[in-house]
Amino acid sequence: MTNMEKVHILDHPLLQHKLSILRDKNTGVKQFREIVSEMAALECYEATRDLTLQTVEIETPIATGTFQTLAGKKLAIVPILRAGLGMVEGILNLIPSAKVGHIGLYRDPETHAPVEYYCKMPQDIAERDVIVLDPMLATGGSASAAITFLKGYGCKHIKLMNILAAPEGIACIRRDHPDVDIYVAAVDEKLNERAYIVPGLGDAGDRIFGTK
Ligand code: PRP
Ligand code: URA
Repeated sequence: MTNMEKVHILDHPLLQHKLSILRDKNTGVKQFREIVSEMAALECYEATRDLTLQTVEIETPIATGTFQTLAGKKLAIVPILRAGLGMVEGILNLIPSAKVGHIGLYRDPETHAPVEYYCKMPQDIAERDVIVLDPMLATGGSASAAITFLKGYGCKHIKLMNILAAPEGIACIRRDHPDVDIYVAAVDEKLNERAYIVPGLGDAGDRIFGTK
C-alpha cells in the first residue's frame, strides 16, 4: 500500500470534466491540446498554494493601503519532452516570470525504461523551486529520472505535476523521491502489458501533437 502523504489528487469538478474529454478517443488534437493547457493552469493554482507573500504599500485611486504581493520566489517549470510541453503555456499564463527548463526523455518501447536525449536548464536552476510537468505518470520511470537529474543539479524544492497517474507511478515517486509533492487530477486502475494507463487517455504526446 503506497504512502499517499504528499499526493494531491485534485478532484475539482472542472478538472474531472476536462479529464473526461481528454479520455474520449474521439476528442481531436486541437481540443486535446487546449484542455491539457487549461488543466495545467487549474492544477497550478493548487500547486502554488504555498507561495509566500510580502506586504507592500500601494496607492489606489482612492487611498493608500498595505496589500500582499508574491515575495518574488524564484520558480522554474521543467516539462518532460514531448508531452510535458503541452502544459507549459497554461502555467506561464499564470506565472509569466517562471523560467523554463527542458528535459527530453522517451520510454524504450521494449523495456519501458526512460532514455534521456535532451537537457537545457536555466543557469540558476539550483536556486529555484521547480515544478516538473508531464501529463502522464505511468511506471514513474520518466518522472523519477527527471527528478533525480534535477537533484543532481542541486534543486532542493521539487514538485511533480501530472494530469493522470497509475498507482505504479505514484508508488515509484513515493519510493524514489519521498520529498516530492505530486499534483494530479486522477489515479487510474492499473497499467497494461505495454505500460499504458488503463483506462487512461492513450498516448498523450501523440494526442497533443497529432503524430498518430
Ligand atoms: C510518455 C509520457 C511520459 C512517459 C510516462 O512519454 O509523456 O513522459 O511516457 O511513462 P512512464 O511513467 O512509464 O515513464 P513517451 O515516452 O511516450 O514520450 P513522448 O512524450 O515523446 O511521447
Ligand atoms: N505514456 C502515455 O502517453 N500514456 C500512457 O498511458 C502511458 C505512458
